[in-house]
Amino acid sequence: MADLSTRFTGIPFANPFLLASAPPTESESNIERAFDAGWGGVVTKTIGMHPVVNVAGPRTKFLRSDAAGGRVSMAKRPDSTLMASWNWELISDKPVDWWVPRLERIKRNWPDRVLVASIMAGSGDDKEFEHWQTLTRAVQEAGADAIELNFSCPHMDRVDMGANVGKDPVLCSVSTQAVKAVATVPVWVKLTPATAKIVDEAEATFRGGADAISSSNTFPALPLVDPDTLEFEINVDGLVSPGGMGGPAILPLSLAKMAELTQAFPDREFSGIGGVSGWAQALDYFLLGCGTVQVATAAMLDHAIGPNVIRDLTEGMAAFLDRHADRGWTRLEDFRGLRRDRVVAQSEIRRPVDVDYHGGHEEEAEGYARGTVPA
Ligand SMILES: Cc1cc2nc3c(=O)[nH]c(=O)nc-3n(C[C@H](O)[C@H](O)[C@H](O)COP(=O)(O)O)c2cc1C
Repeated sequence: MADLSTRFTGIPFANPFLLASAPPTESESNIERAFDAGWGGVVTKTIGMHPVVNVAGPRTKFLRSDAAGGRVSMAKRPDSTLMASWNWELISDKPVDWWVPRLERIKRNWPDRVLVASIMAGSGDDKEFEHWQTLTRAVQEAGADAIELNFSCPHMDRVDMGANVGKDPVLCSVSTQAVKAVATVPVWVKLTPATAKIVDEAEATFRGGADAISSSNTFPALPLVDPDTLEFEINVDGLVSPGGMGGPAILPLSLAKMAELTQAFPDREFSGIGGVSGWAQALDYFLLGCGTVQVATAAMLDHAIGPNVIRDLTEGMAAFLDRHADRGWTRLEDFRGLRRDRVVAQSEIRRPVDVDYHGGHEEEAEGYARGTVPA
């Protein structure tokens, strides 16, 4: 009998699926609707000490690829397929005092669903570490079941915030330590994928006391230029700055980061994020060893909180378990991590022994014209 429940960082989950920190979780009404739709948990939009002001224009747009021509554009048009989201939105524009009574009410109404509060402060001086602690105390006293530290927003101006913390192992470690010194609930840390050495940051974060790592946040990206107007497809007064890309395009990228993490720390807990819109993609993360999966872009495009997405995730997981009942699988733990060790160095991949070696490419490999394969 399929059992979707699980435990992650000691917290019981009705199912391993959460809404990620993003617009779907930026308000009390959205979060209540999300729980009503069946999400096992939510991670709130990132909460800071001070209100932020977003740019004077659209914060998020969606990149779609033409079915026929392959043009990728933010322009809405028929016969196109979602490729990615692009956003330059900052953290919640509501300060922590606005959030506290709302977290309390949500937790009171949904005691069996998991409420994770995402928080962010700076890391430049002692005052900033106190901000991390103030935020931690406020959200855990309001009833948050866990805290997720945002070390990964790719478009913060300050050098001691967001992805700038996630790229610096020392800041990762000391910021986590500051939170752990006062935390009474599990602490998850959301690392940036915009680094060549995520295992180093993860190691420092675990050394700081983290209970789990979430990955990935969005990947740094620019919008495209409209070939007719020569303007960036998203801009304010003609200007643009790098933002973050999410959605289907980042699934393989994020999985590569996750494979590095779960292989380096097979006994640790990981929450997989990036490009999940249904069961098939969640399965990718679970097979690499993740214990929960989070969703942002797909939920934004599905009635703002993803009722159809969560249905596909839960029904897909139940059907998957039923299909594999003959192997004795009834729950996530039975197949979690099953493909983690199949990711190996290129040199460990078998070469054909009975044909000439062409630098790893067959004569008629896709993408190579006949006769041009490097010898
Ligand atoms: C519009 C938008 C706002 C976001 N805001 C936050 C945020 O405040 N804090 C955070 O940790 N991640 C934020 N994210 C990142 C998402 O939580 C998620 O990590 C990322 O979008 C990849 O998941 P996806 O492919 O399901 O979108 C945001 C993403 C989007 C699209």
